[in-house]
This record gives sequence, structure tokens and C-alpha cells, in this order.
Amino acid sequence: MSYSNSNYATHSPALPSFLFLLADDIGWGDFSYNNGTALTPNIDAWAKRDGSVLLQDFHSGGTVCSPTRATILTGRHHFRDCVDFVYGCSDMSQCVPNFEFAPSKTFTVGDAVRTAFPEEYDGNGVFFAGKWHLGSFFNDSEAYGGTTSSPLTHGFNKMNATIEVAPTATLNCQCKAEWKKHCKFGHYHKPNHCFPEGECCFNYWWDDPMAPHGVTNLTWPTPLDDSLYLADAFSRFLEERSSSEKPFLAQISFHHCHIPFIASEKAKRDCAAGKTCRLPEKGEPLYTDQELDYYACLTELDNAVGIILRTVQEYGYYNNTMVWFATDNGPEHNCPPLGICQKADTHPHRPVEGPGSSGPLRGRKRDIYEGGHRVPGVVSYPSEVRGGNHITWETATTMDFLPTVMEMLNVERPENQRTWAMDGRSILPLLRNPTNFTWKETTEGVRSLGIAYRHHDRKVADGWGFRFGPWKYVHGSMSCTVAECQRPQLYNLDDDLGERHDLSAKHPDILANMTTQFNQWFHSVSKSRHEESKCRLADLLPLPGSSRTDSEIN
Ligand SMILES: *[C@@H]1O[C@H](CO)[C@@H](O)[C@H](O)[C@H]1NC(C)=O
Ligand SMILES: *[C@@H]1O[C@H](CO)[C@@H](O)[C@H](O)[C@H]1NC(C)=O
Ligand SMILES: *[C@@H]1O[C@H](CO)[C@@H](O)[C@H](O)[C@H]1NC(C)=O
Ligand SMILES: *[C@@H]1O[C@H](CO)[C@@H](O)[C@H](O)[C@H]1NC(C)=O
Ligand SMILES: *[C@@H]1O[C@H](CO)[C@@H](O)[C@H](O)[C@H]1NC(C)=O
Ligand SMILES: *[C@@H]1O[C@H](CO)[C@@H](O)[C@H](O)[C@H]1NC(C)=O
Ligand SMILES: *[C@@H]1O[C@H](CO)[C@@H](O)[C@H](O)[C@H]1NC(C)=O
Repeated sequence: MSYSNSNYATHSPALPSFLFLLADDIGWGDFSYNNGTALTPNIDAWAKRDGSVLLQDFHSGGTVCSPTRATILTGRHHFRDCVDFVYGCSDMSQCVPNFEFAPSKTFTVGDAVRTAFPEEYDGNGVFFAGKWHLGSFFNDSEAYGGTTSSPLTHGFNKMNATIEVAPTATLNCQCKAEWKKHCKFGHYHKPNHCFPEGECCFNYWWDDPMAPHGVTNLTWPTPLDDSLYLADAFSRFLEERSSSEKPFLAQISFHHCHIPFIASEKAKRDCAAGKTCRLPEKGEPLYTDQELDYYACLTELDNAVGIILRTVQEYGYYNNTMVWFATDNGPEHNCPPLGICQKADTHPHRPVEGPGSSGPLRGRKRDIYEGGHRVPGVVSYPSEVRGGNHITWETATTMDFLPTVMEMLNVERPENQRTWAMDGRSILPLLRNPTNFTWKETTEGVRSLGIAYRHHDRKVADGWGFRFGPWKYVHGSMSCTVAECQRPQLYNLDDDLGERHDLSAKHPDILANMTTQFNQWFHSVSKSRHEESKCRLADLLPLPGSSRTDSEIN
């Protein structure tokens, strides 16, 4: 890929711009820079480019879709704002279970840029495109017994978005006959995202003051590859933005490569022929059709990311734009080679096996083990990142986006939220000195992270975890063995990235320390729900290691 300086690059705004690219259900080991099967030349080259940092200890704030999406916007663990699990918003008027994301209007990253420089970022400068999965778009959902919770009520002023799960190909009502059996893509057994009900439709919506609910939907065909629709939506947005010579903040949330991942026949043939994929080793079986769909989906995503980065470059924004790339959680569940996912097949649409790879990490999506939430992470910001080819193993997370933006723009949360808990930290010091930066030498000291997983109907056990420097506490995880599920575990990730050697018996003092730290964090989460966000579900926080909820105990 060529990044030569372009003729378009004439008037870049003085203020920085921000772009968050979020992919779906892709594992730490899936891109070719980490030995993945699909070749991802655009992402690989970007991670190595001058001004980029590859973050190898980067985490999604949640272990499933909706939770991580909340953490990007608020810089807080998702439980603090009652985004406890994956929501179904198959019915536009009402999400199931009905919920409000951050009902007390928790400060978001869109609010941050608009507060700092209202005239510069306002007027369609704060754009959300792709999979929202944090509530209903109708501005009058309350009239149907639901709650409006759209990009427009959480800091963005322009959108081109889908509600939740959608296939990676040809959204917009062009159902293929063979997809009909998948038409219940919407979560929680609601039919789908269609109007009229019963049609198979996963459509894009945007703000429209002339439309009855304040939003309108797309009425023309989308491309076979959905990531091209999003690349196109971003190009249109940036073309308009650049003509005003103003900065922007955008989040592009791809559907690639959540199930159902569907790739073009040509892309699958190219993978099978070894043009876009590593071929199976001698003696290994050929890739299955499902694997080819997944690998080709990764190639499509990589291509769309390349288009978006070139667009940023062409309009003269690249040097002064901070671009983040992450995925929302690890890959969809799988059993081999360790057979540690005996509880993974509880959902009718969930394949027990999936082709995605978390590399050497243990576990996958929904796991407290690293495979659930240690995900690909790349940040580029040439104005501040000097010298090329940086790789860091310092911890960072999707929750760091907001505090980093706040530090860059020197903006604070509103007076009444200033003392609210925030789990994220600004990574600006890391970006300025990726070679030598370590959290332990900062004034806040060693980095800690709380990790949680909850299933909406509690049929699947909760998972809890805590990270403190190299130490990792795990109490319940999707793929723990029966014996492991019953006791707290302790791992040292410096020596045991794959979390195979439980050190709880060897280091009871460290386990006790981690348990205390976890409990302190958990207490602070509970306090956030009751005293900060004050959401309706505040009392429903489950207690770790117990089937009782917070309110039942109190
Ligand atoms: C990728 O494979 C090479 C060669 O086997 C190995 O040295 C390297 O550690 C692997 N990278 C990751 C991220 O696993
Ligand atoms: C929803 O948006 C429409 C169009 O902008 C507007 O006429 C209507 O008053 C809005 N309804 C609510 C409840 O905000
Ligand atoms: C969505 O688009 C269809 C046409 O494809 C139109 O009939 C329908 O009214 C639109 N829905 C809304 C809520 O605007
Ligand atoms: C949404 O994106 C599609 C694809 O680029 C585009 O056709 C459509 O005009 C966009 N809608 C808005 C309101 O920008
Ligand atoms: C971007 O930064 C690089 C390195 O600092 C510089 O060589 C290049 O001219 C800059 N490009 C633009 C368009 O400002
Ligand atoms: C990093 O630390 C090393 C050793 O202390 C030092 O030589 C080097 O200049 C530092 N690099 C940066 C970019 O600060
Ligand atoms: C846990 O250990 C760290 C590092 O030794 C120490 O700073 C901290 O105070 C300990 N916390 C508790 C709750 O014991």
C-alpha cells in the first residue's frame, strides 16, 4: 500500500481529528501480523508505519458486543452504566431486555470534542457509522414502552447505522433464499430488524428531521461486501467535512466478522488458492467452507480499513488524526484443541466451533481468560508518535479512548460528573514515548483492570476477573473446566500468557491481594450504578461467585 503525500492535502485543520475503527468478533491471532491465516496487508503495513503503535496487550472493555461499545464512549467499565450484557434490539421501538444506556447521560467521547470546541466539531462533525448495538434509534421509543438510546442521544450528531447483529454481506432487505433460515438474527428470539415485520432486513438508518421517528432507512441496494458500504459512508462524510476545513470525530463499527460471516465466492477462491491466505500446512486438511468465509471476511475488512486510511490521508487529515483500531471481543467460541468449551453451545445460533483464532491465548469471546478480551489494537497519531515501528506490551483498553481525547483537548467532564469513576487512562504518554513508557512509573502506578461477563438470562455462569500488572485473577470463565470454575485462579501472564498454570496454591498472599483489589473495584462499580448512572437495572448486579444479585444481599 502506498501512502505517498497526496495533492488533496492542502488545508488540514489545526485541531486534531479522531477515528475509532471497531471490528467484530476477531481474535488476537487473526491478523497476519500475529500469524493469522488470512493475509491482512493493509492492517499489517499500517501497524508498522511511522507514527503507529501496535498494542499487544490491548483489551476490549467487555467480552461481548454491547458492553465493549459502551466502554469506548464512556471510558468506564460497562457495568457502571448498566450495560450488563448483549442487548437485543430486533424491534426498533424497544430493546430486549429493555434498557437505557447511561440514562444519566454519562459523558461520552462525542460530548468531549463538542464541549471542548463546539464550533469546530459541531455541525455534523461527530459521526457514527455501522453497528450501534446500544439501543433503539426511534426518537419516540418511549411511546412504545421502550427507551431511545441512539448515537444521537450519546454525543454523535450524524449517523448511518444498523441496530445490532447483521450479516457481513448485502444488508438492506436483499435476503438470499439460503439466509431465510438465519432470519432470526436479531437477539432474544425477536424476529429481525424489519419493517414490515417478517421481512428479512438488516438496514442502515440515519437522522432525518422529516421522518416520523426522526430517522429514516436506506432504500437502495448495498454492496455484497458490507465493509465497502462503511468505507463509502466514511468517504462521503470526510469529503463534506474537508470542504469545511474542520476537524472530526468518527467511529466506524464494522459487522465483519460476526456470525453470519458471508464472503464473495471470488474472495473465497482467492483464499483457497493461497492468494490472500496462508495455505494449510502439508498433511493438514483443506479449509472448510466456513473457514473460507471467515478468512475472506478478514481480507475484506483489511481492504476496507486500507480504503479508510487512504481517505484520511488523501483529505490531508492523516498526520493530525488519532486513529484507533480494535475488535469488540475475542473470536466466536471453539473447542479444539483443548476441549475447554463444554458450555459454549447454549445458544441456538452459536457455532460450537468457529474459525477465528485467539493465537496462544486461552479462551474466546465471553471468556474472562485473555482470549475473550485481549484483542488486536493499533493506534496511529503521527503528530505525537515519533519514529517508526513501535510495539508495546503495556496494557491499554478501549476505555482509554475517552481519557486520551480529553487530555489532548484539555477538556474535563461536567462539574456533576467530575468525581465519577473512570477505568480508562490517557495513553498520550505512551504514544509520546512508546519505547520506554511503563505504567508502573506513572503517578497512578501499576495498571489494574476489572473484567466481567454476564449472560442476559443467567443460564450461563457469570465470569469475573482482575488484572494487576502481570497478575491475573479469574473467578468463573466461559471455558473453565468444572474444577476450575469452582475456585478462584491466579495466573502470571509474563510467564504464562496462555493461562495454563494456576498459581493460587503457590501464592496465596498474591491471590488474597488480588481478591481484595477485585472486591474494592466491584464495590466501586456497584456505587457507580446506584449513585452515578442510577440506571433501572442498578440493583441487578450479580455478586461474584454467587447466583444472588446485589439487591438480594443488601
Ligand atoms: C508468529 O510465529 C513466529 C514463528 O513461529 C513466532 O516467532 C512468533 O512469536 C509468532 N507470533 C505470535 C504473536 O504468536
Ligand atoms: C422525532 O423527530 C421528528 C422529526 O425530527 C420530530 O418531528 C418529532 O417531534 C420527534 N419526536 C420526539 C419525541 O422527539
Ligand atoms: C424504511 O424503508 C422502506 C422502503 O424500503 C419504507 O417503506 C419504510 O417506510 C422505511 N421505514 C421508516 C421507518 O422510515
Ligand atoms: C449512508 O451511507 C451510504 C453509503 O455511503 C450512502 O449512500 C448514504 O447516502 C449515507 N447516508 C447519509 C445520510 O449520509
Ligand atoms: C506528515 O508528517 C510527516 C512526518 O512528520 C511529514 O513528512 C509530512 O510532510 C506530513 N504530511 C502532511 C500532509 O502534513
Ligand atoms: C529509552 O531508554 C533508553 C535507556 O534508558 C535510552 O537510551 C533511550 O534514549 C530512551 N528512548 C527514548 C525515546 O526516550
Ligand atoms: C497488593 O500488592 C500491591 C503491590 O505489592 C500493593 O501495592 C497493594 O497495596 C496491595 N493491595 C492490597 C489490597 O493488599
